Amino acid sequence: MIRKLDIISKYSKYFVRNVRNQSTRPMCDTISVCNRNYPTDSWTNITPNILSYQGRNIYMKKNHPLSILRQQIVNYFYKTFVNPKGNAIFSVFDNLAPVVTPEQNFDQLLIPKDHPSRSKSDCYYVNEKHLLRAHTTAHQVDLLKSGLDNYLIVGDVYRRDEINATHFPVFHQIDAVRTLHRDKLFKNNPELEIFETNFKTSPTSFLPIKSSLKCIDQTKQPCHTMEAVKLMEHELKTVLVRLAQTLFGKDIEYRWVDSYFPFTQPSWELEVYWKGEWLELLGSGIMRNEILEAAGIGNTIGWAFGVGLERLAMVLFEIPDIRLFWSNDSGFLNQFKEEDFGKHMKYKPISIYPQCANDLSFWLPDNMGVDDFVGNDFNDVVRDVAGDIVEQVSLIDKFKHPKTGKSSLCFRIVYRHMEKTLTQNEVNEIHSKITTTVEKRFNVKIR
Ligand code: PHE
Repeated sequence: MIRKLDIISKYSKYFVRNVRNQSTRPMCDTISVCNRNYPTDSWTNITPNILSYQGRNIYMKKNHPLSILRQQIVNYFYKTFVNPKGNAIFSVFDNLAPVVTPEQNFDQLLIPKDHPSRSKSDCYYVNEKHLLRAHTTAHQVDLLKSGLDNYLIVGDVYRRDEINATHFPVFHQIDAVRTLHRDKLFKNNPELEIFETNFKTSPTSFLPIKSSLKCIDQTKQPCHTMEAVKLMEHELKTVLVRLAQTLFGKDIEYRWVDSYFPFTQPSWELEVYWKGEWLELLGSGIMRNEILEAAGIGNTIGWAFGVGLERLAMVLFEIPDIRLFWSNDSGFLNQFKEEDFGKHMKYKPISIYPQCANDLSFWLPDNMGVDDFVGNDFNDVVRDVAGDIVEQVSLIDKFKHPKTGKSSLCFRIVYRHMEKTLTQNEVNEIHSKITTTVEKRFNVKIR
């Protein structure tokens, strides 16, 4: 069953989530990612399975549903923002390598040092100094520093997560930034300013994520004037509502919901009402001035937004399983045509193959409690051994023995091949491979 299709709900939850860290050991001294060798260390947790998606660039393949969406969004920006000569003013970056530093992915975006989204259990680290970007926002400061004022970035992003119909460790995002210098923003009102004359940076901006959630000022950053923020907010909201109408149709019902991101203030999510449910479509906000300052840009204000492509495509084209985007099956790929966007282009199941569920329960080592075990480590072992024939992994039981004090966990693994029926024997063989790997890797005892 598909959970509530929260198109980007991972975004904001990702910034307020709390997870544990668990150390893992890399297998080799170096690892090759995007044709470069990196030394491994205790941070390395990229798996061969994750590396196998590298460079497939499905979001650029003609007529792939993700590519169709990418083009719709890019074209919308090209059409909406033009200079007096009629040329598009947004630059588009769609091939930046996904290996970034923690500075790019977190520090430059004002994500606190102890923030849980940095943890090894949430990100794929190449080593201590490099990771696969967890959002396309990671390139913001670099692109601003290079002198860009309006840009879109499209790319693959990587997050360690649960396994089910709407989550996959590799997915795609589009981020946009739009900045305006005071002389442009207030060209008709030259007496107005972007910045207050005497402002004090609010200490609440630097509070840990949870407290700032309660007291962050949703009206504006202390440095900005109300006039500047309201003008930008108006443009951002108008542009993004029209984007939603371009994708979902003119009559789509929508609403703005207050949100929180460390790199924007105020922040909002845009939700659309689709088939009886409110769907989070994108995250957005007024860029934190500290970021523009760090990029060396003065007297300027900006807005930014980010949208995840997979769940948007799943909703629009009625694609029931996120693994289908990686399918090479022509029966899937031939169903979508760029030029048919908006003409009721819906996925028709190629055929339904049966599921097969097997459980795996084990005793944890003596010193470990049920909450010490990192589910995402388990998920990565499952993916590494079984690849994407695993449709879903769920923790179905936690148990602590009243006498021995030993803890045990039980995971249910649901197998389903996208292109054929799996026999119980095939499944058993893979399941037992997973079992032995789990046993060795986590030092557990199978029950
Ligand atoms: N990077 C955010 C995410 O992945 C989305 C976002 C981008 C929000 C830009 C605001 C501005 O969750």
